[in-house]
Amino acid sequence: MSGKISKRRKERNMRVGFLTSGGDCQALNATMRGVAKALYEWDPKTEIIGVLDGYKGLIYGHCREMKPSDFSGILTKGGTILGSSRMPFKEMRTPDENGLDKVKAMKDNYYKWKLDCLVVLGGNGSQKTANLLSQEGLNVIGLPKTIDNDIWGTDMTFGFQSAVDIATNVIDQIHTTAASHGRVFIIEIMGHRVGWITLHAGIASGADVILLPEIPYDIDVVAKAIKKREKEGKNFTIMAVAEGAISKEDAALGKKELKKKQAEDAKIYPSVAYKIAAELKERTGQEMRITIPGHTQRGGSPVAYDRVISSRLGAAAARLIEESKYGFLVAFKGNEIVPVPLAEIAGRLKYIDPHGSIVKEAKALGISFGTKD
Ligand code: F6P
Repeated sequence: MSGKISKRRKERNMRVGFLTSGGDCQALNATMRGVAKALYEWDPKTEIIGVLDGYKGLIYGHCREMKPSDFSGILTKGGTILGSSRMPFKEMRTPDENGLDKVKAMKDNYYKWKLDCLVVLGGNGSQKTANLLSQEGLNVIGLPKTIDNDIWGTDMTFGFQSAVDIATNVIDQIHTTAASHGRVFIIEIMGHRVGWITLHAGIASGADVILLPEIPYDIDVVAKAIKKREKEGKNFTIMAVAEGAISKEDAALGKKELKKKQAEDAKIYPSVAYKIAAELKERTGQEMRITIPGHTQRGGSPVAYDRVISSRLGAAAARLIEESKYGFLVAFKGNEIVPVPLAEIAGRLKYIDPHGSIVKEAKALGISFGTKD
């Protein structure tokens, strides 16, 4: 046992806050369990305070004392036992409807609850707030949560592999019915502004077309890919389309014009899949169907891969706490767990490289990305 612990123990036990923020995912509980188990191994007297409903709980003072038994049996449980909420980073510096200074309120509660540190399990926006709190002098550690896999500084986020599995299963199910009826199917996949889930699930399920936000598509090229399959005697086509997929015309617009265009499109089409379906029907005459698995991609148990990285990330977060190293995101890089400064990752998105290896390999398999090359 380190001198640090014995010295602190004389005064009081270590108090660690856990907070889950933003859209949930399958491995939040698995990750909290990992941190808790490693902390209790290190010092069984560690006190864990669960902040309820994300940053909302930290602002408005909602928390509960956790017991070791709270972390038993949750490795396979989806969602979050603490609850979550979306509290946009850009609104953190704006007082609430009653004039409450949110940042001050979060700091006040941190000190009132006598926390030695706060562990934030969250995606991009949540890590920006984590960085803000760290710069405000709190001891903060971030853990990379999101099905989207778009957090800068980490190869992998927990939740991603589970979402890929669900999206892959959906496309697998669609394959037979698409073939029976000779239809074109568009499966619209979550991922916000990036296409990681779509790319991986598309490859895993043998999709014929993959459309991603990072690779603006040419609708005529997509139509050609469908017609080519028809000529080859394949009367059906499976398209994995990211919810953020964008046409080359739209991608060329300025920010303001694009916003206007998307607002106009939204009046006609419920989502991008409907727009693409309408345009392809016109060009190919083929029968089109749309499937949107939506939030099912965030539900259920984490897959084994996620359970492993969650447990490892959790244990590594506990190690940082033991060493009093704060202000870091616990990241996963090249199969190693490494701390990356929150200040380095805050506000940066991890996009797919359109010319990267995985895209090249997918193209080599004959998958169309809706581009001429
Ligand atoms: O960030 C995770 C995510 O599931 C995105 O893929 C999706 O765009 C968004 O959250 C949906 O958000 P909400 O749950 O607030 O509808």
